Amino acid sequence: MKIPDFKLEEFWKKYEFTSPYLLCCSDAETWTLQELLAMADEDSKQLWHSLTLGYTESPGHPILRQEIARLYVSIKADEILTLAGAEEGIYCTMRVLIEPGDHVIVIDPCYQSLATLPKSFGGEITAIQLKPENQWRLDLAEVKKAFRSNTKLLVLNYPHNPSGAVLDKKTLDELIQLARKSGAYIFCDEVYRFLEIDENQRMPSIADVYEKGISLNVMTKSFGLAGLRIGWLAARDTNFLKAAGSYKLYTSICNSAPSEILAIMALKAKDKILKRNRDIILNNLKILDACIERNRKHLSWIRPQSGTMAVLQLLLPISVEAFAEELVRTEGILIMPGSVFDLPGNFFRIGFGKRNMAGILERFESYLQRSPYI
Ligand SMILES: Cc1ncc(COP(=O)(O)O)c(C=O)c1O
Repeated sequence: MKIPDFKLEEFWKKYEFTSPYLLCCSDAETWTLQELLAMADEDSKQLWHSLTLGYTESPGHPILRQEIARLYVSIKADEILTLAGAEEGIYCTMRVLIEPGDHVIVIDPCYQSLATLPKSFGGEITAIQLKPENQWRLDLAEVKKAFRSNTKLLVLNYPHNPSGAVLDKKTLDELIQLARKSGAYIFCDEVYRFLEIDENQRMPSIADVYEKGISLNVMTKSFGLAGLRIGWLAARDTNFLKAAGSYKLYTSICNSAPSEILAIMALKAKDKILKRNRDIILNNLKILDACIERNRKHLSWIRPQSGTMAVLQLLLPISVEAFAEELVRTEGILIMPGSVFDLPGNFFRIGFGKRNMAGILERFESYLQRSPYI
C-alpha cells in the first residue's frame, strides 16, 4: 500500500534539528529527566530503582493505566489502551475502524494522519473546512449535511491544531446526537487538552460523554514529554479497545519500560506540570498580543482559545512560503507555512509553548520590520 508523504512530519524532519530558533513547536516546554525525577513521589521512585528492562504488559503498566484513567470523569483503567505516542493511537484506530467504502467526516485543516490514514484504508472522506474568516468555527449545518447512513466515523481534533480553537459544549452535544443517529463513532484527538486559556472552556472528553466516543491523548503536548512516546486511547467500547490492542501487537507490541515509569511520575505530578506549562503559555500570549498589535499592518490572527499554537496571517505582498524559506535560511527562525496543512492563503503557524519564545519573537519582529516588502 502506498501512502502519501506526511507533510508536517517531513517538514520537521528537514528543519527541527538544523534550525536554531523554532517558532512553530506544538508541544509545551520540555522537561529534563532530572526535573521529572525530582518531582517523583516515593512509590514511583521505588518503581524506577527496581525497574527491569524487559518487555512490558501490552496494554500498559497497570499503575500507568490507573493514573491515566484519573484524567477522565467516568473512564476506568481497563478502558485505557496505552500506545507509542498519539500517532500509534491514530494508526491503530483507523486500521480497526475503517473498511473500504466507509464514510468518514474529518475537519480540515488537521494533523494530516487524521485524514490521510482513513483515506488510505479505503474510507470515503468528507472534509469540513474550518476557515479563519469564520473564526475557525465548526459549521454544524455543514456537518449535518455531511452525515450519511453509512458514516462510520467523525474525526475531531479539539483543542485544534493549528488554530487553537475549541468546541463549546452545546456544539459537541449536537455532534453526538448526529453521530448517534448514524451509529457512527466519534474519534477526538484531544492531545492539547488541559492548556485551555480559559479553563472554563475545557471540553469534556468524548470518551466520557459518548458511548461510541474514542479519546486520544499523550504525554507529548500539554505535559511537555514528547520523548517518552507514551500515548493512549480511552473508550467505553471495550471491543474497540481490544481490537486496537490486537493491532498494537503488529506495531510496537508494548511500551518502553523506562518511559512507562517516567509517565507515571509525571501523571502523579500533573498539577505542578500543567501549572508550569500554562504559566509559560499565558505569559507568552501577552508577549504575542503586544507584538501583533505593534505590527498590525503586517500581521493578523484569530486569538487562540487554547495553547500552544496559533495561525497568523502575513499581510505582505510576498508568499508566506518564500518569506518562511528566507527567514529560516538567513536567520535560522522556523515558522510553519499554512501549505504544510494545505491551508490556502498567506497563513503560518506559530508556537507559544516554549520558554525561549520571547527571544525568538524579538528576532522575528526585527526581521519583519527590515523586510523590503513593507
Ligand atoms: C493533533 C495532533 N495529534 C497527534 C500528534 C502526534 O503526537 P505524538 O508525537 O505524540 O505521536 C500531533 C503532533 O503534532 C498533533 O498535533
